[in-house]
Amino acid sequence: MNGPVRIVVSEEQWIAAAAQWIAEKLRAAVLRHGCCSVALAGGETPRPVYAALADPPWASEVPWPQIEVFFSDERGVSRDHPESNFRTAHSALLSRIAIPCEHVHPMLGDAEDAGAEAERYAGSLPDALDVLLLGMGADGHTASLFPGSPAVAERQRKVAVARAPHPPYLRLTITPPVIEAARDVGVLVRGASKASMVARALEASANCDEVPACLAGRGTWILDAAAAASLHGG
Ligand code: 6PG
Repeated sequence: MNGPVRIVVSEEQWIAAAAQWIAEKLRAAVLRHGCCSVALAGGETPRPVYAALADPPWASEVPWPQIEVFFSDERGVSRDHPESNFRTAHSALLSRIAIPCEHVHPMLGDAEDAGAEAERYAGSLPDALDVLLLGMGADGHTASLFPGSPAVAERQRKVAVARAPHPPYLRLTITPPVIEAARDVGVLVRGASKASMVARALEASANCDEVPACLAGRGTWILDAAAAASLHGG
């Protein structure tokens, strides 16, 4: 994981800054070894960034046929459910770019046996993702690693079944070893409501069980000014 880097831009520049960083990392991985594995963040924050990546200039800058798309987590819903992270990424980006469908690897949030799906998905992941995109909730969670959750302490499995404190409760999530092994981690956070938690997550003394987003502390945090407001010199 390269980092720590903090990119702080205005609200107006944030989408372009996030799209630019992602496009550069995807291209760099393909130049490095002919392909790129990226895991997408869930939630609402990245939606406009995904949409921007399917528009000029980034749509033509990224060698999409060489990209393998994974997910950092998924809610316990079907792929066409409004709360599905796959649905968000598919509508904003994946349905709008030239990526082979066999290169898109959704987590099956509505699988009959969530534990079996976690194992299956773990087996589909590369040893180390080239690019991992994450968000952060105002409670300090990232992916579906929530404060105090057993999944935050998972050191063997690469994907775990987790329970969120708010619906959809059932989740599938990558675990800390996957975050630690990723080459480039980008954390996309915007908005004043997350400013204090951003500062807590980036403290050197942060307790990752209390603030799981600190697991990505050595990554590149792409923040708008409001989300960076509580950082020293933020
Ligand atoms: C999810 C995400 C989660 C998300 C944060 C922030 O499935 O919800 O993986 O970690 O990144 O909850 O969500 P927002 O971007 O919607 O604030």
